[in-house]
Amino acid sequence: MSVKHIYVHIPFCKKKCPYCDFFSLPIYSNYTKTKYTTSLIKELKARKVLSSKPLKTIYFGGGSPLMLGTDNLNQIISKLRSSIDKRTEISIELNPEHLEGKQQKIMALLSGMHFNRLSIGVQTTNERILSMIERSYDINELLKTISALRKRDSILSLDFMFGLPGQTIKDLMDDIDFIKQILPQHISFYLFTPPERYQLIDQCASYKLASKMMGIISSSLKTIGYKHYEVSNFCLDKNLCKHNMAYWARQSYLGLGAGAHSFDSTKNIRSWNVQDIKAYMNDPVSSFGYEKLTKRDKINENIFLGLRLLDKGIKESLLENKDYRTFINSNMLRLYNGHLMVTEKGLPLLNYISSSLMTY
Ligand SMILES: C[S@@+](CC[C@H](N)C(=O)[O-])C[C@H]1O[C@@H](n2cnc3c(N)ncnc32)[C@H](O)[C@@H]1O
Ligand code: SF4
Repeated sequence: MSVKHIYVHIPFCKKKCPYCDFFSLPIYSNYTKTKYTTSLIKELKARKVLSSKPLKTIYFGGGSPLMLGTDNLNQIISKLRSSIDKRTEISIELNPEHLEGKQQKIMALLSGMHFNRLSIGVQTTNERILSMIERSYDINELLKTISALRKRDSILSLDFMFGLPGQTIKDLMDDIDFIKQILPQHISFYLFTPPERYQLIDQCASYKLASKMMGIISSSLKTIGYKHYEVSNFCLDKNLCKHNMAYWARQSYLGLGAGAHSFDSTKNIRSWNVQDIKAYMNDPVSSFGYEKLTKRDKINENIFLGLRLLDKGIKESLLENKDYRTFINSNMLRLYNGHLMVTEKGLPLLNYISSSLMTY
């Protein structure tokens, strides 16, 4: 397959956060990181996806990609360099605590590697909540990072979570005030969804509070000029995340690394790599599993993913005999130019709405 979007999974972290269900593991030896890098490069070559046309997006996610080390990151980028041009969006996820005291150096290294979209996991600026979720960074250091980043020609994206243990509306408003002060080009604001085993699960927001928070986030950010373009994503001007847009629009992408997923839109095949670092390094080339999508799967995915895009939605014709009028009558969905879109009122119930409209 020929792809325009590549995801690179770096599963290393300093420590495992208790609420995190992503495939990430506490730090490994330098030997493992080097071997992992070699395996990733081997996988990239074996997949034969690079063409003479430049890639549209590359996304280094994790885990904490910086934990791989800048030399290793550089090696991977150098293998992709011939497929990068000035329009390629190249993102990396960063933990604020990894940058403390070395902002200038790291920012210079990252810009040398052509990263032009830096996504920082702020989560919340509230120290009490950060300590409850076992994250810690210094807010003044975060401000230094942001100011170092601003000197580079990159897009700044900040990740926040809401509905966190013990978080009040006032705490949320403080995070929104922080955003107003910084005005990053892009914001992801995720509803906190820890796994069931999470110890503080009883202290997380109820459905009612989380819905109220969702409404506050959307209206406050819209008031200061952000476009709420996807359920959890906001941008200024046209700075939406092109990489994630490719996922939502069901375009082909290649996922490299342990546990990474790929999608071939021509053959309608979703495939995934083994979620185990050792097994991946032993054989980085064979996919671990795959699923051929049926016509029904395809329609269901279009519904589920398309409704996430607030201004785009899905074609009304996709729903055939489904009773979506109830959602229009209750102002959860709106119909515009033959497209159905979720309303602000429908947002907290989006999963329910999507699953009601899908065919099983
Ligand atoms: C894959 S994580 C990697 C980013 C980086 N390691 C960090 O933690 O800052 C990307 C984002 O997912 C979000 N996230 C992680 N766990 C989450 C959870 N249980 N519920 C909601 N969002 C979560 C966080 O906002 C995080 O910044
Ligand atoms: S640092 Fe990020 S990816 Fe790593 S465990 Fe914590 S939330 Fe997950």
